[in-house]
Amino acid sequence: MKWKTSTTVFVVTAFIAAIIVAWHWLDFPSAVSTPAAADVIVYKDPNCGCCNKWVEHLREHGFNVTAQNDVRVDKIKAARGVPPALGACHTAIVQGYVVEGHVPADTIKRLLRERPAIKGIAVAGMPAGSPGMEGPYHESYNVMSFDASGQTEIYERH
Ligand code: CU
Ligand code: CU
Repeated sequence: MKWKTSTTVFVVTAFIAAIIVAWHWLDFPSAVSTPAAADVIVYKDPNCGCCNKWVEHLREHGFNVTAQNDVRVDKIKAARGVPPALGACHTAIVQGYVVEGHVPADTIKRLLRERPAIKGIAVAGMPAGSPGMEGPYHESYNVMSFDASGQTEIYERH
């Protein structure tokens, strides 16, 4: 039997549609199943070069970063309870946590995995060699945690 062209088109279309429906119905993972990227809001000065490099660092590690440039960063820090001694250039918010300064992306991932009862984490100042502060030198530095009462602790050493 010789099918008409229109019949052939219909059969092929129906076949493709069936595959698509089956694919969704069986819920095959599309390519690799990665967890949804965490959203990050970064409050920073638009002209801060090291801030922009830190934003790039986070994006390279899969974070979904929105930069907020039109703000008084010092007011954000105060409102979010960043202890003055832990202040740095930019302040970020990730799933309710405050992330102050040049904190490595992997440390943020650990924070989101462990979800400790703290307000946030911070890298005070701008240590050379931290993410966004790359250069010929590498200082050792601590990622500090802080809670709502301003109590600080070492979270990670670098
Ligand atoms: Cu900086
Ligand atoms: Cu910065």
